[in-house]
Amino acid sequence: MDNPDKPLIYLIVGARPNFMKAAPLIRALEERAPEIKSLLVHTGQHYDYEMSKAFFEDLDMPDPDIYLGVGSGTHAEQTAKIMISLEKEIFDNRPDLIVVFGDVNSTLAASVVASKLMVPVAHVEAGLRSFDRTMPEEINRIVTDILSDLLFTTERDAIENLRREGIPDEKIHFTGNVMIDTLLTFADKARKSDITERLGLSDRNYAVLTLHRPSNVDVPEVFDGILEALAEVGKNIPVVFPVHPRTKKRLAEFGFLDKFSSDFRTPPAERGILLIDPVKYTEFLALEMKSLFVLTDSGGIQEETTFLGVPCLTLRNNTERPVTLEVGTNILVGTDPHRIIEESAKILRGEGKKGAIPELWDGKASHRIAKIIKTKMEEQK
Ligand code: UD1
Ligand code: UDP
Repeated sequence: MDNPDKPLIYLIVGARPNFMKAAPLIRALEERAPEIKSLLVHTGQHYDYEMSKAFFEDLDMPDPDIYLGVGSGTHAEQTAKIMISLEKEIFDNRPDLIVVFGDVNSTLAASVVASKLMVPVAHVEAGLRSFDRTMPEEINRIVTDILSDLLFTTERDAIENLRREGIPDEKIHFTGNVMIDTLLTFADKARKSDITERLGLSDRNYAVLTLHRPSNVDVPEVFDGILEALAEVGKNIPVVFPVHPRTKKRLAEFGFLDKFSSDFRTPPAERGILLIDPVKYTEFLALEMKSLFVLTDSGGIQEETTFLGVPCLTLRNNTERPVTLEVGTNILVGTDPHRIIEESAKILRGEGKKGAIPELWDGKASHRIAKIIKTKMEEQK
């Protein structure tokens, strides 16, 4: 039976990019701090098999201990539903700490609820700023950080951002990037994946595309321009496009599926845009690793491509991850079709951006975090 005096922590996950961040910390806490009882709480923000359960299986994660099942909704609806359900859980079980990841609505909702119940909050991936408050994630980042007691950062710019916002130094810990812990743990499994063969793609002879930012896919003119550019790129190299559920909905709603159907190919892919469902982590990692380049508006994918040394064209005007520009392989190309086509052509000519691996992206971030959490729990006794 569990010792009732064991410190209890909740790890809160909800959306796809949370799972690969939580997985290594669950393992590191088990190894480094077995005296702590951790419960995994899944808000249910993402719920389709390929957006959620597939990651638990692929990353050998335990099933969630608590599932809130909130589902989709407007920002207020989704955030409120998480807050109502989580408040009850926290009230009943009184965890000693909650750990939140990244910048999604589940991160914000959990931080607010825990703070008001006087439960300390640890934020993994703190301090990132795009300085663009039209992005819902920027609001989530700012609020979560101001409420957090332990702020774990992935890059040095984040430390400066937090200082500027008045967060005291003793709360900030530069621990590195947990996504890279997961990437290194699963790199072998990814290398062995047969996804490229199944899709008829040959190594370094295709590009990967992901899109899901509302500013890109919810505005028909912007989305249309991007797809137009991609159709051009696809004349020279196949582009494999695992389609996020938000994006799938918009493609249908805006009638773009018909418009572009002549460019869609089924395997084997020689050129054109190959639409597929979202894939599990190790398959996506395999696609990234073996590609010539990646086009994306994702946050995490900018980091993975930098680590892998694969050129990344980010279809946004800003990034909260400047180290990927300064040190890594990332270039901001925005959404201007000409620029997307031009930068893709450069890579096809062999002029892709080269980069290096950022500081502390070494596979040990989750162990550094576990150590700090362990100390915090000892101090709180
Ligand atoms: C969310 C995060 C975003 C993150 C992205 C990662 C917020 C504000 N946004 O955006 O930061 O980059 O996840 O993927 O937290 N849907 C499904 N099935 C699912 C999940 C969603 O069909 O399993 C559809 C629903 O129509 C839903 C829409 O996708 O309305 C958007 O989902 P939501 O979680 O609100 O935002 P994302 O765009 O996924
Ligand atoms: N990813 C995945 N399958 C896909 C697309 C992405 O496993 O079909 C992974 C990707 O490798 C990265 C993470 O999902 O680890 C990024 O999540 P996402 O782009 O949804 O969110 P963001 O990082 O923009 O918040």
